[in-house]
Amino acid sequence: MKVPNRLGGIMNGMLLPRERSEIAPGAVHVPAWLGIERQRAIVEECRRWAVGPVPMRSARLPGGRQMSVKTVCLGWHWQPYKYTRTADDAGGGRVAQVPDWMIELGRQALVDGYLDPAAGDGYTPDTALINYYDDAAKMGMHQDKDEKASDPVVSLSIGDTCLFRFGNTENRNKPYTDVELMSGDLFVFGGPSRFAYHGVPKTLPGTADPQTGLSQGRINITMRVTGME
Ligand code: SIN
Ligand code: MN
Repeated sequence: MKVPNRLGGIMNGMLLPRERSEIAPGAVHVPAWLGIERQRAIVEECRRWAVGPVPMRSARLPGGRQMSVKTVCLGWHWQPYKYTRTADDAGGGRVAQVPDWMIELGRQALVDGYLDPAAGDGYTPDTALINYYDDAAKMGMHQDKDEKASDPVVSLSIGDTCLFRFGNTENRNKPYTDVELMSGDLFVFGGPSRFAYHGVPKTLPGTADPQTGLSQGRINITMRVTGME
């Protein structure tokens, strides 16, 4: 049975509503933030970006291992652990620009995440990482720290539900909070949580709503400000 988006876990046989919640100071989860039409439009764009101008690929870690997620970037190309203008590990091209609609979405995300009409003022993400998780993909605990600016990270999820682990700023261990991110959910981490460790221990295959146009797997988009010229 498909569970409507605003309803989440089951306790004692009852569906629990999913509400906006502050997971840590500056880290906010807003369930069901994107409607189905918006999700579908974003999935279509992601399919285009996955093909070019720089193809989506599994980035290689400095140790030689490949990440299990596939990534395509906008604005700046990211590879572990730096941003460059050209995608030197993926054909050498330049990635597509961050579209204006995404910048607007990022600003609105901060307004709604922080419940502050001014929170999006001056927020201009100049890069976005689009990650695709197949059924086996996951992401280890890490910090987003290749940016030279401390503006918030805006994260959007589409497709399969995942277990998102949001930790502390000291190390990749406890204390951390596990959150289920479902299709359409927004997660913002800024302020004291901007450099918190986080990761995706697993996705829950088969939970995606095919109405988004993504019948398998999970897309996550993180918008960031690199602070680079
Ligand atoms: C990331 O940390 O870059 C991705 C997080 C996610 O997939 O939710
Ligand atoms: Mn990250």
